[in-house]
Amino acid sequence: TGYFTYDPGFTSTASCSSKITFIDGDNGVLLYRGYPIEQLAEKCDFLEVCYLLLNGELPNGAEMKEFVTTISKHVMVHEQLTRFYSGFRRDAHPMAVLVGVVGALSAFYHDGTDVTCREDRYTAAIRLIAKMPNIVAMCHKYSTGMPFIYPKRKLGYAENFMRMMMGDPCDEYIPNPILIRAIDRILILHADHEQNASTSTVRLAGSSGANPYACVAAGIACLWGAAHGGANEAVLNMLEEIGDASNIPEYVAKAKDKNDPFRLMGFGHRVYKNYDPRAKLMRQTCHEVLDELNLHNDRTFKLAMELERIALEDPYFVERKLYPNVDFYSGIVLRALGIPTEMFTAIFALARSVGWIAQWDEMISDPELKIGRPRQLYRGVPQRDVQPISSR
Ligand code: CMC
Repeated sequence: TGYFTYDPGFTSTASCSSKITFIDGDNGVLLYRGYPIEQLAEKCDFLEVCYLLLNGELPNGAEMKEFVTTISKHVMVHEQLTRFYSGFRRDAHPMAVLVGVVGALSAFYHDGTDVTCREDRYTAAIRLIAKMPNIVAMCHKYSTGMPFIYPKRKLGYAENFMRMMMGDPCDEYIPNPILIRAIDRILILHADHEQNASTSTVRLAGSSGANPYACVAAGIACLWGAAHGGANEAVLNMLEEIGDASNIPEYVAKAKDKNDPFRLMGFGHRVYKNYDPRAKLMRQTCHEVLDELNLHNDRTFKLAMELERIALEDPYFVERKLYPNVDFYSGIVLRALGIPTEMFTAIFALARSVGWIAQWDEMISDPELKIGRPRQLYRGVPQRDVQPISSR
C-alpha cells in the first residue's frame, strides 16, 4: 500500500507485547509465565495455573488457600441467569448457548466493573473462572433435559465440574481420580496460548474499554470455528465419518487434494512446526484414560492411532510439518469420559477463560494501550460519482 504492512492472517505481525505465555514453535516449547507446560501439567493443578496466569507467580500454600476460598465464594451463578437457558432450543449447539449466557454476565456485572480499576478487573477474572464450570455444565444439562446441579464448594475445580456435568441428583457422584486428573490436565493444557484467534478477539474487543464478559463472549464465538477450538469436536466427527481403518487412505488423499477443501482435523498448527508439546502430554493422558477404562480396543481409538501412524509417515504431512495437535487427543479423552462430542469445544472455552481474562487484564493495564484498529488493503473500485437513479 505504501503505508501499511499487508499481512493476511497475521503470520508475521506481533499485535501486542505480553509477559504471559511464550511459544517457540520450531522447538515445541510452551511456557506459562516462564514455566514449561510439562512441569505445570505434572506438578500443579488447574487452579494453581490460573493463579499463575493471573498473578505472574505460582502461589505459596497460604496464597493458594486464599485463592481457592475466593474462587469458591463465586461458584454460584445468579438464579436469574439460569433462566436464560430456557430461551434456547434444547438442540441448540452448546457453543451457541455459551456465547449467549457468558455475554449475559455483562448484564449482571456491568455497573460494578470499572475496567480502569485493578480490583474490579481481578474480581471480574475470579467471577469468570469460578462460574464457568457451572455455566458450561448447565449447557449440557439443558440439552439433555436434566436438572441443573449446584456446585459444591468443598470439591476441587475439575471434580466439581465433572459432578455438575455428569452427575445426576438421584445418585451420588463417585469420582475416579485418574479421570478427574485427565480433565484437570485438559484444562491446564488449554489455559492459554498467547495471541491465538480467540485471545486476539478478546483483546481487540476489550481495547475499546468494553465489558470483560462481553469480550469473553466474543472470544467464545471465535473459538467455535473448526480451524480453532472447534477442532476437537471436528476430529471425532471425522473419525466417525471415516468409520473404518480401510477408509483412511481415501481420507488422507482427500486431505492432500488441493481441489478438495477437506483437511485432516486435529493435524497442523500455525505456530508449532515441530511438535505440539501439549499434544505429547495429551497423548500420554489419552493412554492413561484408555488403560483405566479398558478401552484400548475401542474402535474409534484404534482408528485414531492408525490415522496418526499413516499421516506421520506420509511425505505430504512430513514436508509441511503437520503433526497431530492437542485437540487430536483431547477429543479422544473426552469421548472416553462419556462427554458428548458437541460439548468438547465448550470445555476448551472453560479452560481458555483464564487465558482470555489474564490477557484482557494485561492489555487494559498497559500504559501504551491503544484501541485495536487494523488498516486494510483496499481492492475496490476507485472514486466515482453517484449517477441519478434514472440513468443507472
Ligand atoms: N490437513 C491437510 N493439509 C493441511 C492441514 C490439514 N489439517 N493443515 C494444513 N495443511 C496444509 C495446507 O493445505 C497448506 O498446504 P500448501 O502449503 O500446499 O498450500 C500447508 O499445510 C500450510 O497450511 P496453512 O493453512 O497455511 O497453515 P495455517 O497456519 O494457516 O493453519 C491450521 C493452521 C491449524 C488452521 C491448519 O493446520 C488446520 O486447518 N488444521 C486442521 C484444524 C485443526 O486441527 N485446528 C486446531 C488447531 S490446535 C487448537 C487451537 O489452538 O485452536
